[in-house]
Amino acid sequence: MNETPTSMNLAAGGRPDDCGVVIFGASGDLTRRKLLPALYNLFLDGLLPDHFAIIGFARTKLTNEEFREQARQAIEKFSRRKFIETERWADFEKRLVYHPGSYDNLESFQGLRKLQESVCDEFKTCGNWLYYLSTPPSTYEDVARCLSVAGLAGKGSEGKPWSRLVIEKPIGNDLDSARNLNDALSQACDESQTFRIDHYLGKETVQNIMVLRFANGIFEPLWNHNYIDHVQITVAESDGVGDRGGYYEQSGALRDMLQNHILQLLCLIAMDPPHNLGADSIRDKKLEVLQAIRPLSLEDIRENVVRGQYDAGLLDSEPVNSYRDSVNVPDDSSRETFVALRLLLDNWRWSGVPFYVRTGKRLPRRNAEISVQFKSVPPILFNANPSRPLNPNVLTIRLQPNEGVSLQIDSKKPGLRVDINPVKLDFGYSSVYPAGTSEAYERLLLDVMLGDSTLFMRRDEVEAAWAFVTPILLAWEEMPAEDFPNYVAGSSGPSKADEILARDGRRWRKV
Ligand code: BG6
Repeated sequence: MNETPTSMNLAAGGRPDDCGVVIFGASGDLTRRKLLPALYNLFLDGLLPDHFAIIGFARTKLTNEEFREQARQAIEKFSRRKFIETERWADFEKRLVYHPGSYDNLESFQGLRKLQESVCDEFKTCGNWLYYLSTPPSTYEDVARCLSVAGLAGKGSEGKPWSRLVIEKPIGNDLDSARNLNDALSQACDESQTFRIDHYLGKETVQNIMVLRFANGIFEPLWNHNYIDHVQITVAESDGVGDRGGYYEQSGALRDMLQNHILQLLCLIAMDPPHNLGADSIRDKKLEVLQAIRPLSLEDIRENVVRGQYDAGLLDSEPVNSYRDSVNVPDDSSRETFVALRLLLDNWRWSGVPFYVRTGKRLPRRNAEISVQFKSVPPILFNANPSRPLNPNVLTIRLQPNEGVSLQIDSKKPGLRVDINPVKLDFGYSSVYPAGTSEAYERLLLDVMLGDSTLFMRRDEVEAAWAFVTPILLAWEEMPAEDFPNYVAGSSGPSKADEILARDGRRWRKV
């Protein structure tokens, strides 16, 4: 195997420094579903340092024993490895410590500091700390301030011992609030200490986009407006909003999925090759993509941005409720659960190539993919009959599920006539790598411990993404949707989304 000593695969060989992890919001959903299972799996795989400990911090009053029991239950339920082996568990569990406190109370942080000192003595974690904010976004500024005032975050402490701050999206809810939050974070930590998570970047298939593009000789020469007709990015979910109606009412599909996950996918598919695999080289190139997105005028927003909200319908033949029937969602909600739009990149490589992106809840199935459609061959030889044009080549990167990459080509159907059929060259992860892959959060947590920020969003990337999205939010505020709910659960979204492509003589791929 070819191993390049770069930041993109530090995790392949490096072992993090001894350190402690403080999880704020330790009794919450993300901690149970993702963080504790990820830390446990890293531990089982021998990827955590020899000396580590985890402090859970939350408002709920719990003892260490109760926290450990909750952790055990969470891991049994949500970990990719369900079986808890007694000895290994005992070794892991003794490193779990709990500290009840409130996120805006300095005394709680002074208490935390004392606890950290004793944890450091007991577990030899060497004063290195990873702070994970798995709390509601309204608390981010308070936590960052208290960490700073209590002397815990240590601005400028990228030497040894280090402290690093991890925050989850949403990072703001528009450009101004994102800037304000980033300013507040920068009071507590330097940019190099700030790790903004976009969990899509931790997915194996997403990391593979750069490898596919830049480790293979055949794609890059074709990867431009001369050969590519258009690109489609779809992130479809069959789930509804579940019990997250309260959060979703503040967010909606544009903020929840497009501003972050989808624009990050766009960056990876459209970026120029970085000059090395260093975190900043890669992020500089991603930033250039965001900066090249042509801003949308009001007219573009009316024509080329479509929002939708799901009504009751059938999914896998089972009836499901409308969005408006979800918990904490008002009967007249105008929050979008679907968004589709067409965008252009004003740079040399992509001049005139439309990127069509869409995401939605309660679509017929879970399916996230990027498809790159190449231009057709000239209308001669096999493509000479205008009434039966050939199918163009399509490279499809299946992000999830059924992870893989396929290339659609035309081929002759065996027989005495020349009958041409599209067929696929297909690579499927499950057949080539049956052992399965680790979870995004395992990779991301390990990278924070290693100090590798490649898979995290830099401040300027987040703000550039908001700069594109904010005018849409403002326009929508001025023009409330009058036709909501406008798609039935189990359908592929509002029919208006089809018109965006139809106007260009194109069609969405099947969800
Ligand atoms: C989250 C969104 O960021 O991503 C959710 O808040 C969404 O609404 C989820 O369901 C999708 O993630 P994944 O990994 O299941 O595709």
